[in-house]
Amino acid sequence: MKQLLTRLEQASGLDRISDPLQKALQSALKPRMLRDALHGVQVGHPLHPALASFTLGSMTSAAILDVLRGQEFPATLMVGGAVASAPITVLAGANDWAELDAEQRRVGLVHMLVNAASVGFYTASLLLRLRGDHARGRLLGFAGFCLVNVGAFLGGHLAYKQGAQVNQAATQLHRISDGWHPVADISALPHGMPVSRSIGEVPVLVYRDGDRVSVLLERCGHETGPLGEGRVVDVDGDACVECPWHGSTFRLADGLVMHGPAGSDQPVLRTRVVNDVVEANLP
Ligand code: FES
Repeated sequence: MKQLLTRLEQASGLDRISDPLQKALQSALKPRMLRDALHGVQVGHPLHPALASFTLGSMTSAAILDVLRGQEFPATLMVGGAVASAPITVLAGANDWAELDAEQRRVGLVHMLVNAASVGFYTASLLLRLRGDHARGRLLGFAGFCLVNVGAFLGGHLAYKQGAQVNQAATQLHRISDGWHPVADISALPHGMPVSRSIGEVPVLVYRDGDRVSVLLERCGHETGPLGEGRVVDVDGDACVECPWHGSTFRLADGLVMHGPAGSDQPVLRTRVVNDVVEANLP
């Protein structure tokens, strides 16, 4: 299994489909507000896994009800729920997928195709059930259920092995010990311009706005891009830093994610000033 997955990650032949599909998706999903909503920016949590839980949960419930027999109506409802929620789940996943690197996209492409085939089976299953043919509807439902589990397995590989859309900043926090750490002399900090510093081996971004100082983790939560090399931009009147790699944008005062592909806020440390020295501690 491990070898199979490694071969899939390295199957550069898939790029012939993956690269043009990525470009097509990026131009089809041009409005930034739409892309942000699909990444989960407004809710501060990646949207695709939350939606996938609903779709997969409906499919699993339908499979259990089909095994129990005599549960045609609730099983049909569950299949209907899965089919109705699938388009938005797929769209949110495709939007995340378009921002991944090549190896992640190869696995993600197969994940998408397998899940799309599963949704096809469930759609046909729903049509048969609505016509009263529950026996064949059940069979197609089971076929779709087998496929969606293969898709879910690949989705798990993408997240847990390849780190796709996982908040990369979270692990950096664990590398900072508890307690107050000096990060900069406040008088040496420029106003309105973040500077890069470090706490031990963990890079941080220090931002001074008047008397307020904030300290954010410097490595972007999306794919560890160097925020210290990013542009400072104005979003709705707030100073934000834009990641130079894929454009995720975070408010400098509190790390709030303003634009994706990052779906989570950038972690911010607690700060205090002691004898003109800015100190930071874990949140
Ligand atoms: S690394 Fe992708 S947006 Fe920062």
